[in-house]
Order: sequence, then structure tokens, then C-alpha cells
Amino acid sequence: MRTFYVSGAFVPEDQAQVSVLDRGFLFGDAVYEVSTVIGGKLVDNAAHLARLERSLSELRIAPPLPLSDIPALQKELIARNNLKEGVLYLQISRGSADRDFGFPADPKPVLVMFTQARPVLDVPAVKTGISVISLEDWRWKRRDIKSVNLLAPVLAKQAAKDAGVADAWMVEDGVVTDGSSNNAYIVTVDGTIVTRNLGNHILAGITRKAVLALAEEEGLTIEERGFTLDEAYAAAEAFVTSASTFVLPVVEIDGKAVSQGVPGPITQKLRQHYIAFAEATAD
Ligand code: PDD
Repeated sequence: MRTFYVSGAFVPEDQAQVSVLDRGFLFGDAVYEVSTVIGGKLVDNAAHLARLERSLSELRIAPPLPLSDIPALQKELIARNNLKEGVLYLQISRGSADRDFGFPADPKPVLVMFTQARPVLDVPAVKTGISVISLEDWRWKRRDIKSVNLLAPVLAKQAAKDAGVADAWMVEDGVVTDGSSNNAYIVTVDGTIVTRNLGNHILAGITRKAVLALAEEEGLTIEERGFTLDEAYAAAEAFVTSASTFVLPVVEIDGKAVSQGVPGPITQKLRQHYIAFAEATAD
């Protein structure tokens, strides 16, 4: 049985509990981070904790402990679960109080963490690529905050599943914003990497930042702007990035093959570079 971390204690999964009045449960009043573990070590974790700090501050949630204490707890959780490869989920809610929309007078935020073992480096989708469908992005207007209000992505992912594909790309005002839980990219026929510019309309992916830096080192041209579905249908390559998938090729969009319908060379190169970065810096 896995060991979970709940508010200061490491407990067996079947004893890991929060109150029914927890505001994460009642209002989605909580933020989260997903950090990847390879070789028993966390990938780019400091960047995830920096984004956590920002999400907390945007929602005016005071962390229940100094964020600098978190890495030691994460490492302890990884050790207790003997996790070699997978993800570590971390959530901080505003805590529990009798149901009332306004903040509680004396909030007691709740930190919960657990691990999920799963292959990260060697997954079949890397070789085959994934298919996606597009659908309307009707998330709220602060997608830069990594909140647990995930109903739109939940329904997007299920719509993809129902359509027999792996994921959905969300579209707003004619341009692609995010995948259901990843950042979306195309590579144009002239080799330019295009991905949505940062702002309140997308999540500033930690993997996105690292991958764009690696692409720049490679001398690749990057355009941070919205791209349309028509541009995506005509692209040479497409891919997504996230902590849990790293760089994953997209080979079909709305039933149309991207170029030859196989993972593209720039995508594969970026995945290799990202893995090398992750392995060299994991801590
Ligand atoms: N999702 N965009 C959205 C909407 C996301 O939910 C995520 C991450 C990303 C990629 O961000 P990062 O590279 O920091 O993981 C982009 C996580 C993995 C999840 O919800 O499971």
C-alpha cells in the first residue's frame, strides 16, 4: 500500500483523509503541482515549487509550511514509496471551514502529497505518436493559476476518450490554447516551432520553459503566438509537453494526419534533449 502525506504526517493510503468541509473539495479552492520522478529523483522540481508559490499567492492562500521545507518531504515520500519512475502529486487547499464562499477568518491550509508509479521514459506513444481532437476551450480566465478547478479538462479528456483518441486540443478565438493537461506546439514546414505565448489564457508549463530553452540552444526558430487549427493541419510536426509526458509527438489532429502521420524529427530531437536535461539535473 502506498504512503501518502497529509498535513504533517506520513500515513497509509487507506488512512489518508481530509475533511468533507475541505475547500478544495467544496469549491475547488486549492492549487496543485505534478512533478516527475525518474531514477528516484525529481525533475525540475524547484521550478514547480516556484510556480506553486505564484499560484498560492494569486489565490491568497498562505502555505501551511515554508515552501523550502517541501523538497525534503517530497524526497521522504519518494523513499517511503520506493518510487523509481512516475509522478508526485502535491496539493494545497485553503483548508476546511463551514461552507461559506468568502475566505475563512482563520484558514488552516492543507498540504496533501502522493506518488503514482508509471513509465515516463519508455512509453509506446513516443514511437507511435498520439491523435488529438480539437474542441472549444471554456476554462476560466486565469489558466495561469494551477488550480484544481479542472472540470473543463476532465470533460475534454473524456470527449477525447469517447472519440477514441488520446487527448484534446482546446481552441479559443480561433487559436489553440492548451491540450487538456499539456502545452501544444506545431512545427511549420519551414522548421519554426510555434506555441501559444504566455498570459492568463494558458498554463506556463515548466516543461515548456525547459524545452523552449533547449530548442533555442539548438538554434531552432521559435514563435510564441497563437496558431490556428488550419495551421496545425498543415504543419510538418506537432507535439505536446508536460511534466508527466515530457515531449510527446502528435501525429493526427481531428482525423487529419500531421504530415506523414509519424513522429517528426524535431519533436524526437527535443524529446531526447529534454530527457538528457532531466537525467542530468534530477534531484
Ligand atoms: N498538467 N497546460 C495545462 C492545462 C496543464 O494542466 C499542464 C500540466 C501543462 C504543462 O505544464 P507542466 O509542463 O508544468 O507540467 C500545460 C499536469 C501534468 C497535470 O495536470 O497532470
